[in-house]
Amino acid sequence: MTLLALETSCDETSAAVVRDGRVLANVISSQIKLHAEYGGVVPELATREHLRNLVPVTQTALHEARVTAAQLDAVAATRGPGLPSALMVGLKAAQGFAFALRRPFVGVHHHEAHLYSPWIAGRPLSADFASFQPNVSLIVSGGHTMLVHVEAPLKHRLLGSTVDDAAGECFDKVAKLIGLPYPGGPALDCLAEQGDPGAFDFPRPLLSDPNDDFSFSGLKTSVRYFLRDHPETLDDGQGVRDLCASVQAAIVEVLVTKTMRAARRLKVGCVTASGGVTCNRALRKELAAACEKDGLVLRLAERSLCTDNAAMIGVLAERKLEQGESPAPLDSDIAPGWALG
Ligand code: KG4
Ligand code: ZN
Repeated sequence: MTLLALETSCDETSAAVVRDGRVLANVISSQIKLHAEYGGVVPELATREHLRNLVPVTQTALHEARVTAAQLDAVAATRGPGLPSALMVGLKAAQGFAFALRRPFVGVHHHEAHLYSPWIAGRPLSADFASFQPNVSLIVSGGHTMLVHVEAPLKHRLLGSTVDDAAGECFDKVAKLIGLPYPGGPALDCLAEQGDPGAFDFPRPLLSDPNDDFSFSGLKTSVRYFLRDHPETLDDGQGVRDLCASVQAAIVEVLVTKTMRAARRLKVGCVTASGGVTCNRALRKELAAACEKDGLVLRLAERSLCTDNAAMIGVLAERKLEQGESPAPLDSDIAPGWALG
């Protein structure tokens, strides 16, 4: 089966072509620079940018994959959750494509696609469901932090999620307090590399709570108060690096501890992680160390598939069609608040 997938749920315009589990092309146009001057994603601008970029991005994906529109067997798009107007661009374009080609259309849940993205690996990137193991999956991005029990491919149950800020949002807000440009997560990661994670003691919210929920807004606030009381920290390069390392250590400890606790409780043999924050080096290192200690397999999404991309949408859509799921109607609507069932 050859399938075209579109992803426009937030600030990445992406198109991918997937054939029998292999990613033939995965083109991503990021809007980070556009939103940087506003310190966050502006939905209206994101939508206009998707409208501008979707056709060239799709043409490039088809060209790279050496596939013509007539060779497509199905068309997929992210249906939700995400920014309503941004979702509409990709979903309606995909439905138009499917209508014109008389092909089935699949509307994909964005987080469900993240869940299975760690199973896309190798060169060329290909779906590796043959090695699938039941797992606890951590999705950590700028907009979401969640733990999910994935019992089998296409069978999963949400365990917990953030009650306020997402982990990526916490990275970005703390980075902003330090004066780093948006999105500050990657820059904070770099500075933390040469800092002392034990220099300052920040709270580990909900660390000892028995549930699988997260909370990061209190941590961000405690950094704000810390900088109000110790503004001189920012005058000194090493002080900034120590601050970054200490905040990062708090976020990572909470994410890793709660993920491992859920994995032990559910007796799974595998942990996976995806979403933009999975690029964080300390998180990757600490998850690897914890999994090694507990004898669990760790599958981290490839760096190129951590942030939003259409490849994961296409791989999941194809899997759904292969497993006999019905295509969605061509007039099905976006689902901006779609909960992960
Ligand atoms: O998956 P993604 O594109 O999500 C959303 O659009 O919501 O991830 C973006 C988020 C941002 O918050 C960004 O700062 C964070 O992922 N991020 C990182 C790193 N790379 C990206 N956070 C910490 N360390 C990184 N290396
Ligand atoms: Zn995402």
